[in-house]
Amino acid sequence: MVGKLDIRIREKRKEDIDGIINIAQGLPEYFNPREIERLRKEAPGLEGLVVEKGDIVGYLLFKIDRRKDICIIDSIAVRKDLMSRSIGSELGKRLFKTAQNRGIGTVQVATLAPIIKYAPYEKTRNFYVKKLGFQEGEVVADYWYPGSDPAIVLYKKIGD
Ligand SMILES: CC(C)(COP(=O)(O)OP(=O)(O)OC[C@H]1O[C@@H](n2cnc3c(N)ncnc32)[C@H](O)[C@@H]1OP(=O)(O)O)[C@@H](O)C(=O)NCCC(=O)NCCS
Repeated sequence: MVGKLDIRIREKRKEDIDGIINIAQGLPEYFNPREIERLRKEAPGLEGLVVEKGDIVGYLLFKIDRRKDICIIDSIAVRKDLMSRSIGSELGKRLFKTAQNRGIGTVQVATLAPIIKYAPYEKTRNFYVKKLGFQEGEVVADYWYPGSDPAIVLYKKIGD
């Protein structure tokens, strides 16, 4: 249990997929239908953490690439009415611990590049950089699919 919020963070199970998709579907300014479809296909094959408060109220999906010594955040979200109460930060910290315990040196995430002026993702970048201590890396064109918006890759060295 984490603090007064009465939440529990645990590893994702097979039966959590609908709850995870529900969270993403509740945030259309962040997840378009194409991204929801991608999540539906890929979430079952990814590792993950979920936040429970009765229902699932947040999640973080990730994959570990041992060869590259990297843990990649695929997607993270918190139910809208519970944002800004440190649930996302707790998920991030839990992931850093998981990665560290598994001997991984770096966590990476890609998000919308700042040259694209879109307020919701300005908040997301603030979350990664200011709350979780990620460093800004390179901007990559066509990151998600040919013709997609550019991404900025953010890195966090574990143990820093
Ligand atoms: C990014 C996200 C997971 C952070 O979770 P959270 O529980 O709100 O995070 P915390 O409470 O630990 O930190 C909040 C901080 O993150 C930032 N933030 C990012 N998105 C925010 C949002 N939509 N609303 C409020 N704050 C947001 C702010 O800097 C905020 O600081 P503040 O509370 O001092 O204003 C969550 O806001 C979210 O689900 N956003 C939409 C989905 C998304 O952007 N996912 C990442 C791309 S896959």
